[in-house]
This record gives sequence, C-alpha cells and structure tokens, in this order.
Amino acid sequence: MNMEKEILQLNKVTEPLLAWYDQNRRSLPWREEVSAYRTWVSEIMLQQTRVAAVLPYFARFMAAFPTVESLAQAQPERLMKLWEGLGYYSRARNLQKAAQIIVEQYGGRFPDTYRELMALPGIGDYTAGAILSIAFGKPEPAVDGNVLRLVARVTGSSMDILETKNRKEFRRWVAAALPADRAGAYNQAWMDLGATVCLPNGAPLCSQCPLQELCCACREGKQQTLPVRAPKREKRSEEKTVFVLCRRGEVALRQRPQEGLLAGLWEYPHVEGLLDEAAAARQLEQWGLTVHRWHKTLSARHIFTHIVWKMTGYVLEIEGDGPVDWMWADGEERRLRAIPSAFEKFTGAIPAEEEL
Ligand code: ADE
Repeated sequence: MNMEKEILQLNKVTEPLLAWYDQNRRSLPWREEVSAYRTWVSEIMLQQTRVAAVLPYFARFMAAFPTVESLAQAQPERLMKLWEGLGYYSRARNLQKAAQIIVEQYGGRFPDTYRELMALPGIGDYTAGAILSIAFGKPEPAVDGNVLRLVARVTGSSMDILETKNRKEFRRWVAAALPADRAGAYNQAWMDLGATVCLPNGAPLCSQCPLQELCCACREGKQQTLPVRAPKREKRSEEKTVFVLCRRGEVALRQRPQEGLLAGLWEYPHVEGLLDEAAAARQLEQWGLTVHRWHKTLSARHIFTHIVWKMTGYVLEIEGDGPVDWMWADGEERRLRAIPSAFEKFTGAIPAEEEL
C-alpha cells in the first residue's frame, strides 16, 4: 500500500505516545470521572484557556449545575456569574442553548454522533471529536491548535497551520493513525504532550520527549520554525458611498446579487468610492432623485474576512422613485428584510417620522 509519509510517520508515533501517556497523564477532574456532560463542559472551558485557570471554574460549575437538565434550567445571571473572569462569554450562552436542545430534542440523553453534535451551538469539529472519543470511545480525532503544532513538528510538515485546507489535511492524517480502541487516550496524549513537553513558541523540551527519536523537527533542528503560521495577508480595502434615502417614512433598499459576498441580502443603495457632497449630488441626479434635505453624513467601516469596507454614508430626504430594482420599505418591511451589519451601521441614523 502506498501510504503518505506523514501517516506512516504518525503511525510510528502512536505506540510510544500512548505508553508515555499511561505513565505521565495529568490527573484532571474531567478525567477522573468521565461523562459526556463533564467532557463537553471541560472542553468548552478549555478553549483559549489554560488548564490551571479552568480548574476552579469547572469545580464550581459542576457543583452548581451537575446535570444537563440543571444547566438547561439555570438562571442566565447565575450562569454568567459562574463564568465571570473566564472570558468569551458566548461560550456560556451557547452551553445553555445546547443544553436546552439536548433536553428538549434528546430527552436529556447526550447525542453521540458527529452530525448531531456539530449541530449544537458552540460545538465545532474539535469539540465533537473530543466528546466522541473521550466520553463515547469512538475513533474520532480531536485536533486543536496544540495538536496541529505537535503534528507539524513530528511529521516535519511546513504546511501553514492557519489555513483551513491544511488543518483538514492534518486532521485526516491523525484520523488515519488513530488507534480505534484507545481514541480518547490518544487524543488526550497529544494534549498533555503539548501542554507539558512540546511547548509552543519554539521552546519544546525535546530531551524529555518520548518521540524525540521519531520527530522530524527534532532530527532536523526545526523546532524553532515549525509549525509554520504564515502572516495573514493584508485585507484588501474598498471604499463605498452609501445612500440612506428616506421618502415619507420609507427607505430605499435593493437586493444584493444571489452570488458572492452577502448574497441575496438587502442593502442601502451604494456606489464605489468615497464621494464628496458635490459628487454625491450628481449621483442622486443620475438616479433621477430630488433632494429635499441632507440630514447627516456618517463614516463607518466594516471588516470581513479578506476585505475592509470604508464607507461614507449620506442620510437624505428625497423625492423620486430611483431605479426599478429598488424597493421602498417602511419600518415594518425593513424589520422583515435581512440587512447585513455592514449596512445596519447606518440604520440608527434614519430619522424618526416625527423628525421629518
Ligand atoms: N485541553 C483541551 N482539552 C483537554 C483535555 N481534555 N485535557 C487536558 N487538556 C485539554
């Protein structure tokens, strides 16, 4: 069989990694007593947060909400109070939403398939893999940033770990090397090795590593350069002039094309470039509109994954219909349309009818 060299390399690592884990595994509260609920809560808390910081929060949380039902019914203020200081509060809100779904849709029984877990708020492929392998013993990988670092070093791969397609490739390699009968231990062995030996920022303790002999980075002296995280490409910047055109309590909206950025959503009419008032007035004339009043000029920016929009917005009272593909929407109609947040930045500037 023609197996990829990275998978061959990871296959050699499995046995010494597990042997090291059996001798060196950290004793942690979610390991000493395992349930899907405890695994889930601990994994959510451990996102972006060190084990030492999580320990007291985990203990208080389990005392307050020992079951998925108690979490589902918790007072949100009490939940937030217990989360206070841990940061990324959307994690706590998502935990409760998911708990409510588990109670309502699954009668409190924790789902045990990848598809069902991924459908829950706050659960991505790492957390789904961790729950399935640790709590249910299913052969699923759990590859987070730490595992990516270790896999890059062990295999000597210089693929950029910030790129989604490369992460998927790493995940596929790990899945191919995963021991079906010890998936939870295997995934947690990577985590522990990453936390105690194969440290980030070019500071691994190679002399203490069970994989020293097998590790490409160690053999080739590449511990300082792996993993590769290519600097993010600078975002492309686009300038736009947005017209918030008000006509007797209605505002002009048009629908975006069905393909591309913000496909099919509704927007205020806008043109490319930052137009000053004189140029904006010419644009309004081209649309066949008569201006009654210039209310306001605003600037806003919106950051997408690869693009930044720098916008000037003119809020105007006008007369006329404009192009045929515009619609004139009153407040109720506007509430029904999906207007992306890039444009919602101007919505607050729409004058109330009594101001007109
Ligand atoms: N980091 C993330 N998940 C972990 C786990 N289950 N044990 C230890 N560290 C972790």
